[in-house]
Amino acid sequence: VRKVTVNLGERTYPVIIGREILSNIPEICLELNIPKRVAIITDKHVAGIHLTSIKNSLRHHGFTVTEIIISPGERQKSLTTTNRIVTQLLEARLPRNSAIISFGGGVVGDIAGFTAAIYRRGIMLVQVPTTLLGQVESSIGGKTAVNHPLSKNAVGAFHQPRFVFSDVAFLSTLPKREIICGLGEILKYSMLQESILTFLESHLDEILLGNPEILEDIICRCNSVKAALIEEDEKETNPSGGRAVLNLGHSVGHALEDLSKYKLHHGEAVVIGLRWELEIARAAGIIDEHIYKQYASLLNRVPYHPDISYIKREAVIKKVAAHAAGAGMVLPKGMEEIVITKEISPKIIRSVSAKFIR
Ligand SMILES: NC(=O)c1ccc[n+]([C@@H]2O[C@H](COP(=O)([O-])OP(=O)(O)OC[C@H]3O[C@@H](n4cnc5c(N)ncnc54)[C@H](O)[C@@H]3O)[C@@H](O)[C@H]2O)c1
Ligand SMILES: [Zn+2]
Repeated sequence: VRKVTVNLGERTYPVIIGREILSNIPEICLELNIPKRVAIITDKHVAGIHLTSIKNSLRHHGFTVTEIIISPGERQKSLTTTNRIVTQLLEARLPRNSAIISFGGGVVGDIAGFTAAIYRRGIMLVQVPTTLLGQVESSIGGKTAVNHPLSKNAVGAFHQPRFVFSDVAFLSTLPKREIICGLGEILKYSMLQESILTFLESHLDEILLGNPEILEDIICRCNSVKAALIEEDEKETNPSGGRAVLNLGHSVGHALEDLSKYKLHHGEAVVIGLRWELEIARAAGIIDEHIYKQYASLLNRVPYHPDISYIKREAVIKKVAAHAAGAGMVLPKGMEEIVITKEISPKIIRSVSAKFIR
């Protein structure tokens, strides 16, 4: 079992990572003073495969467990579903002194986390991510949110978990598509830490094949980088660095995810986003040519080449240009060197987009 600590003063918490470690979870709950009254929030896919084992393990150690099962998919990240969950929590009489255990991918994590942030003005949260994207990225850092028809992640709160519990064994039942999604977030870390780049150059294929040891290793590496960024800039208030560098690939990624009407999954959109943004960094003369080649050859090895011709090119250009001029674009410059710039012109975005959408 490995541990990465997120140091945030009195909100400090551990991220526990390991293989076949589910039986340890009650013990960790007891150690960290998680109340004996808990609600597990999960989705139908995860419930069908993994819910019984976690539930029984907690009940066996004296926990009273309420289970709340939502439908899978990004569309559930809504205020409507949140309200439905709150109703179920109230019906189950979940008191203030209780905890929500989020058990699923990033969708469940974001909505369960948001519910924990607002239910009775906030109750404890434990993140038990079951997707690669969840374990690498979304379970850590306290960002919780649901979508609004006008904008993704529009309504949310910062609510840090009491601990994160990542059992790599869950990933053995993950569809191939979801491995690519996790890889999307992992790839951005290769632009933040040279040792991750080198590791991926050697082990990309093993990640794609779901090798548990390699997965555990890369999850730990990415978690350490993310923990340091959160410690430095918990609420993303530093406009020129800090946590915002985690938005690599996301200016284009979010635009594509949105315009695909969520046909593209978040992590898939990030894979494509990283490719576009790498070309944008080159077209704008920002990235060192040697580094460009290294990232390009890694990104090209990812076996993901979807047809996105159903997305309107002009709409992407418009959205990305607006984002670039507003929040700014996060782009790779050199080894472990990132810039956040508002200087990317629509002309550059248009010329690069032609390579990706007809
Ligand atoms: N809060 C953050 O910091 C943060 C960061 C990145 C992404 N996100 C959010 O995360 C979401 C994407 O998360 P995701 O990629 O995990 O998608 P997801 O939660 O939709 O999960 C993907 C699919 O895998 C299924 N699944 C989950 N675990 C499984 C398992 N062990 N075996 C079999 N199937 C399983 C789910 O039911 C779902 O169908 C997006 O909404 C994104 O905005 C949040
Ligand atoms: Zn992301």
